[in-house]
Amino acid sequence: MIDYVAMAEMIRGWVEEAGDILRESLADNSIKVEEKTNPSDLVTEMDRFIEKFYVQKIQEHFPDHKILGEEGTYDTFEDLKGFIWVIDPIDGTLNYVKQKRNFCSMLAVFNDGEPVLSFINDVIHEELYEGVKGHGVRCNGHLMEPIAEHPISEGLVSINTRMEMRDPERARSIVGDSLGVRLMGSSGLEMVQVISNRISAYVTTPLSFWDVAPGMVMAAELGLKMTRPDGEPIKLLENNPIIIANPMAYEQIIGKFSN
Ligand code: IPD
Ligand code: CA
Ligand code: CA
Ligand code: CA
Repeated sequence: MIDYVAMAEMIRGWVEEAGDILRESLADNSIKVEEKTNPSDLVTEMDRFIEKFYVQKIQEHFPDHKILGEEGTYDTFEDLKGFIWVIDPIDGTLNYVKQKRNFCSMLAVFNDGEPVLSFINDVIHEELYEGVKGHGVRCNGHLMEPIAEHPISEGLVSINTRMEMRDPERARSIVGDSLGVRLMGSSGLEMVQVISNRISAYVTTPLSFWDVAPGMVMAAELGLKMTRPDGEPIKLLENNPIIIANPMAYEQIIGKFSN
């Protein structure tokens, strides 16, 4: 039997250290920033540094585990057997560069295709969210409560900008049924809003796997539903549009995708 709690304890130290490095980096105005595919798709030397930091730790402690990282770490995946680590070193790089807030650092671990551990570090608020399969979700060590079901009419929702542009009628219909919309520009922090019950649902167009992977074990542990909008399970290592919501809000939203 693998002791996921002991594993989480070790990884927590790495994620905290990465958070400290990122917090300190905000005072350094000489951090190099590059464009990837367009002016809003940025990568900084800190994205690469933090990914390398995690990769070194993983390889030192778990040399036979595989890794997928946003900034260029790609093992070959013939199947989903064994351990796979998914790294998003800075989620919300555009916010990191332009706002110096509203970003996080994320890790997710899968074993034989099952989400078993995940970490989302909200660096500025110094809130480290940690999900361990079978052991719940903790924020800075405090066990979080399962989320009570409620309809979207009783909560706020988050819809990514691309969905508002590509699917405005459906987006308007979801927002119209809710108390209002809130957007942050970091999928990790949007998922944190849902697992903390500060918003009731997060609905998106396709996101990279590292953007969504850490939400999976946390959603399952807190009784939330998280699937693709067609109701299919999240496809591992692929791009996925997602809905993450409490079960009642989820059913209401998914109903809007069936027609
Ligand atoms: C981005 C953020 C953003 C989402 C983008 C992602 P990155 O991640 O999560 O909220 O809308 O699609 O690419 O590139 O800053 O890690
Ligand atoms: Ca990016
Ligand atoms: Ca991301
Ligand atoms: Ca990133």
